[in-house]
Amino acid sequence: MAYTLEEFSADCHRILKVDPGAAGREQVRQKLEKLLLEDDFIAANCGPDAKGGANVLYADAELGFQILAHIMDKGHEGGVHDHGASWAIYGQAVGHTDMTEWKRTDDGTAEGRASVEKDRTYRLERGQAGIFQDHKIHSIAYPAGARFIRVTGVDLQTIARGRYDVAAGTMAMDKRPNFKGAA
Ligand SMILES: [Fe+2]
Repeated sequence: MAYTLEEFSADCHRILKVDPGAAGREQVRQKLEKLLLEDDFIAANCGPDAKGGANVLYADAELGFQILAHIMDKGHEGGVHDHGASWAIYGQAVGHTDMTEWKRTDDGTAEGRASVEKDRTYRLERGQAGIFQDHKIHSIAYPAGARFIRVTGVDLQTIARGRYDVAAGTMAMDKRPNFKGAA
């Protein structure tokens, strides 16, 4: 039986309504991995003709989470950032993405300052999904043509998120548009 975007959206709603915490997110991550193996879903939302950028596939009016398709034409090594108070689940649809988690090495008390170092890096291939919990500092890198699906706890554009300058040892919190890939 095919697993569809509509079924996945309904599963996310049902799961996150009961448990919006780590256990519920893990269930969503596993459901996303199942969806990513559906060729019909990939063809409809992540195919060669998909619109570039960040496309909202589903937004839950009650719980606030979103499902987005990120369609990347150019390869890119993204900056170090966090999603503030929201979690995000990244699942690979086409190509691969290298996910790097960073950890702070300072105590976070100096305004605008942050020392971070790489903690671990892992690669997502098609059908694999990973979670960045709220406030987790991370960066991603992917080759040209990569496509991934993200489920975010809220519309990320509505909340302040951190950006880190590793070399300068600084960080800033701001609201910004959804990541649309390298220009
Ligand atoms: Fe991110």
